[in-house]
Amino acid sequence: MQVRKNKSSFAQPVPAHWAGEEALESHVLNVLSLMFPGGEGFFIRSVKHFADRIDDPKFQADIKSFIGQEMQHSMAHERFNASVAQSVGNMDWFLWLFTVPTFEWLEPFARKTLDWEILQKFTLALTAAAENMTAGFAQSLFAPGQKEKILRDDVRDLYLWHAAEEMEHRDLAFDVFEKVGGNYATRMAGLAFAYGIIATYVTIGTAYLVVTDKEFPWSKLPKQLIDLFTAENAIGRVFLEGIIDYTRPNFHPSQQPMHRDALAYLEKLAS
Ligand SMILES: [Fe+2]
Ligand SMILES: [Fe+2]
Repeated sequence: MQVRKNKSSFAQPVPAHWAGEEALESHVLNVLSLMFPGGEGFFIRSVKHFADRIDDPKFQADIKSFIGQEMQHSMAHERFNASVAQSVGNMDWFLWLFTVPTFEWLEPFARKTLDWEILQKFTLALTAAAENMTAGFAQSLFAPGQKEKILRDDVRDLYLWHAAEEMEHRDLAFDVFEKVGGNYATRMAGLAFAYGIIATYVTIGTAYLVVTDKEFPWSKLPKQLIDLFTAENAIGRVFLEGIIDYTRPNFHPSQQPMHRDALAYLEKLAS
């Protein structure tokens, strides 16, 4: 596993509906992108807390790469978010709502004041579940016809790079969780909270973006909403399938192998 950089500056403002004709899916992805920097920072802290319990040097090196990759993703998405904000408008209120009560109030209180082993493991369970979600989204981006829907090269490069690395490190948080003795009940609590919290924020943010979008194709909304949860590789369906898959007691992220196009993409980046 290695850390790679995406240097796109998105100098030309990214249009609101950059994910092809599906304006709704574009807005869902716009909201998820706003959540990546805060969320990935949380993943890093959750894994870091347990890093000194890992003695295998290869595992330690992978933890460092995981942290490096998530830091790079955050920085690239911040640039993307600043660019798309020129098209969809200021979303500072949403960023405040997502990051301040959660990562600035609740999390420091829980980590420092309570500092219970069960709570620290729960943050790792949240991370492992969220990583299952991002790996599922990543896998679907490499499905036939999906990446071609992204209209701009710099945006496609951002998402392919991020998705390929999400697949590359999909086992990491899960393996740390198992290594430190995380059990099935904690893993399921992590699943319920991670998916519940993310779904709530994505719904709030997307609803706002749709309502304030002067060019939103309202007549297509019912079909887009149905497609979002039923069409193959659509983000809502992948979200639901990820829940079902993750509840299996013998689940492991490696059971879904990395897409060969993602491997090829990473090899291309290295050359
Ligand atoms: Fe990431
Ligand atoms: Fe990740």
